[in-house]
Amino acid sequence: MRYKTRTLEKELVRAVGHFPALLVTGPRRSGKTTLLRHLFPSAQYVLLEDPDVVARVRADPHSFLDSLTLPVILDEMQNVPGLFAYLRARIDHHPERKGEWLLTGSQEAPLMKGVTESMAGRVAVFSLLPFSAEEVSTTTLLQGGFPEVLAAPDVADIWFRSYIQTYLERDVRAVTSIRDLSTFRRFMGLLAGRCGQMLNKTDLAAPLGVSVPTITQWLGILEITGQIILTPPYYENFGKRIVKTPKLYFVDSGLVASLLGIRDASSLATSPFLGPLFEGLVASEIVKHRLNRGQERNLYYFRDRQGLEVDFVLDEGNRRLLLIEAKATRTPMPDDARSMIRLRAAMPPHAVSRAAVIHAGTAERAAPTPLCPGIRAMGWHALHALLEETNHPA
Ligand SMILES: Nc1ncnc2c1ncn2[C@@H]1O[C@H](COP(=O)(O)OP(=O)(O)OP(=O)(O)O)[C@@H](O)[C@H]1O
Ligand SMILES: [Mg+2]
Repeated sequence: MRYKTRTLEKELVRAVGHFPALLVTGPRRSGKTTLLRHLFPSAQYVLLEDPDVVARVRADPHSFLDSLTLPVILDEMQNVPGLFAYLRARIDHHPERKGEWLLTGSQEAPLMKGVTESMAGRVAVFSLLPFSAEEVSTTTLLQGGFPEVLAAPDVADIWFRSYIQTYLERDVRAVTSIRDLSTFRRFMGLLAGRCGQMLNKTDLAAPLGVSVPTITQWLGILEITGQIILTPPYYENFGKRIVKTPKLYFVDSGLVASLLGIRDASSLATSPFLGPLFEGLVASEIVKHRLNRGQERNLYYFRDRQGLEVDFVLDEGNRRLLLIEAKATRTPMPDDARSMIRLRAAMPPHAVSRAAVIHAGTAERAAPTPLCPGIRAMGWHALHALLEETNHPA
């Protein structure tokens, strides 16, 4: 596949003139290395993975750093987290030099914890998720956005299977002493079946025969390695008792479909998971949109004890809220907006700036149409334009 422009490029370019170091994190195979090498073609490139290289760097970090020509891309920094202390000293020696250290790393490694804190103000941290629909318009619910899946959709099933295996073996084992990887694999399968639901750890622990703290730890791994999105409930005090449990989604709709054993469009169309998978796709597209622009997620769901539910509440700043309902249909109906209308009425005047039903229509039929007063319907391919309105208000 020819190089496809990443939305995050703009943010990286913006940061590189102002920060001594950049760190790109994100799930495996999301395109981190490709992005940095494409954006900084003249930078030296060092992959910190080969055991010989890693051993050399650990044994004599000063000589290693002295041998580099700056700027340099240090790929897979999590393999030598001790190097951060030396980097920091060099940066503090010449704080005026910007954009010299271009790093990638997974934040799951235990020693990576605290790195970003200790490098505060010195390193700009970014998260690169798989392609969004804005970046590659051919992404589908079934395939998701991993570049390698989009490049070879015919063998997506094989790719996902080996991704899960490699991911489990490399990343998960590196973090914890999970001896029984097959239990973790079953855990992921169970989680896939809970996508779009409120997280119930006890309910997950029981069938796997593990403790609730173990489930908490495993969820932490999946979250920090960019595999799942935990969406907290929105609560601002407006006189309603609300629910506090987060909702669970997967970052990549293709991966979760694969975990559920959904292999083709026709089984997807009749699957009981179609609704939750589509909702997850919308969650992921919103998160991608925000992270690619260096913005906080600020994504919530709403549910009160009376059962009023709205899929997504996006806090766009200035106390302005965008409400979104995801409907896995190509024909949105005014009734789909009912809970948003009720929530809007329950909130202080002008708290809700916009509201939309996002439907599963094709890209050609994604354009916004009015659904009811103050509420539009649009296809998920138009979601990015909707979110962009905040950045460039009409
Ligand atoms: N912007 C892009 N356009 C086209 N193909 C891409 C792009 N980014 C990544 N790819 C392809 O996706 C694959 C994975 O990319 P890459 O190795 O950069 O990911 P990564 O996040 O560094 O993965 P890892 O976590 O394994 O280091 C490569 O085969 C690459 O060619
Ligand atoms: Mg890489």
